[in-house]
Amino acid sequence: MKTLMEIEIKNMIRQATDARARSYSPYSKFPVGACLKGQSGAYYHGCNIENAAFTPGICAERTALAKAVSDGEKAFEALAVVNDRDTIVTPCGVCRQALAEFCKPDMPVICASKRGEYKVYSLGELLPYSFGQEDL
Ligand code: THU
Repeated sequence: MKTLMEIEIKNMIRQATDARARSYSPYSKFPVGACLKGQSGAYYHGCNIENAAFTPGICAERTALAKAVSDGEKAFEALAVVNDRDTIVTPCGVCRQALAEFCKPDMPVICASKRGEYKVYSLGELLPYSFGQEDL
């Protein structure tokens, strides 16, 4: 896995926490924020956005990814995800697959709790044996 300085981990957790404040999650009451760092050095932020019809809801990670790709960034250095509980959560399966389209398996994924405790996984650890464009 690519190494990340502690100061950068904390910086990205803080930015993901700011994004979490904009979460629209009236149904689950489970706010999530994400911060995705592009290879250009730019940071992209996302929150989960739910819907009364449930299915159209989108996770924080894919919100950040969509913002980044639509701004022209297609390669990434790191991702931070912060939820609002004392436990650490990792990205859902759909987000792992969406990230794998643009992020290398050695990209660090920082998963943080409300209190700031965190674990860092590589995307490859979270999505082993992934299906990608090389399989088509
Ligand atoms: N959610 C995320 O935004 N990211 C995750 O990593 C896990 C789940 C959202 C989806 C839904 O709005 C709420 O959290 C509960 O599942």
